[in-house]
Amino acid sequence: MQPHTVLIVETKPRKDTQEGLLPALASLGLKGKVFRCEENCLQSRERFSSLLTSTVTFLLRVNETEDASIWEFLLWAAGEVRARGGLVLSDPLVSLKLTDKGLLEAVASLPYAVADGVRALYGDIGSALEAARGGEWILKPTHGRAGRGVIKISRDSAGFCAVDVGSGRTEEQSLVQIVERCRHHYPESSWIRRGFVLTPFLPRIAEGELRLLLTGNRCVGVVARGTPVGALSAAPGSRWLPVEEDEETDRLRRVFLRTLPRLANAAGLDAEAEWPLVWTADFIRRDLPDRFDVEEVLPFALSEINSLAVGHTTFPSMKDFGFSLANYVKDRVEKTSIPIQT
Ligand SMILES: Nc1ncnc2c1ncn2[C@@H]1O[C@H](COP(=O)(O)OP(=O)(O)O)[C@@H](O)[C@H]1O
Ligand SMILES: [Mg+2]
Repeated sequence: MQPHTVLIVETKPRKDTQEGLLPALASLGLKGKVFRCEENCLQSRERFSSLLTSTVTFLLRVNETEDASIWEFLLWAAGEVRARGGLVLSDPLVSLKLTDKGLLEAVASLPYAVADGVRALYGDIGSALEAARGGEWILKPTHGRAGRGVIKISRDSAGFCAVDVGSGRTEEQSLVQIVERCRHHYPESSWIRRGFVLTPFLPRIAEGELRLLLTGNRCVGVVARGTPVGALSAAPGSRWLPVEEDEETDRLRRVFLRTLPRLANAAGLDAEAEWPLVWTADFIRRDLPDRFDVEEVLPFALSEINSLAVGHTTFPSMKDFGFSLANYVKDRVEKTSIPIQT
């Protein structure tokens, strides 16, 4: 039997893999091996196959990528590992489903659903915007790109106004321009189901965002980031810092974990689906409706889930809570039937 290998699949070299994860795995008797995912997937497949044995764990740490061949490769690679009896931690298919912001629409009955509903649009953005009543909306692509491409749309009697959430710049003034811009950036022919989510603008974004750091079905900690005065977003690139947990954050954490099976259902996941190795759920504060059931509604709305590119940014911040990714990997590996030999 060969030693147990943890294949870490990355699209870009990561310092925290080289200096953090690999030495930590080694100290636990696990052999870590980085597999760099090339754009030429045919070559990648050959190289990947030659590494496969039944004692392989597949650990995905992928950067955001628009490259369809990389996604096809990742899905194929996870299948190959499974076919040989290996363990897949961080299933790319689960990640794809969870990070699809169309999910916001599917969580409509959960305590952290966005009030007033969310529309996931895969077709005609123009008519959906026409039909949206007045007020302020957020339009964002169904798969996130670190805050890029998110726009705030206001509609009043004078017409539409769109502001880029990241830069704060006013981008387009007319509906036609907004629709053209979306079509240009996110063609419907794209490999990942490309669509948009139209969701009510939550003004309390001014108070920042709250993030649950998750690993499997556990919440490791809660972090927050503020929104600079006058800005619409702290993204991209600002730091998430640990929060001192109070009753409110504690309740958010408890309710979220309790509803995981329902969330899996809403995302169309196998109820037994392994939650990703490292993932996050982001929340924005919201005002509660006049009448509500305290047990059924939270003063937070789920604004997105991250589990694709999140590994490298979240792994260091999880350390703030005493979480060791290497220990966790070892734990998961030991719980499977695959014997570890070192
Ligand atoms: N419903 C909303 N109301 C107000 N601001 C929002 C809303 N949804 C997103 N934002 C802002 O836009 C930013 C990017 O949105 P997000 O869903 O996190 O996309 P990404 O996947 O690109 O990170 C958030 O960090 C937040 O500042
Ligand atoms: Mg985000």
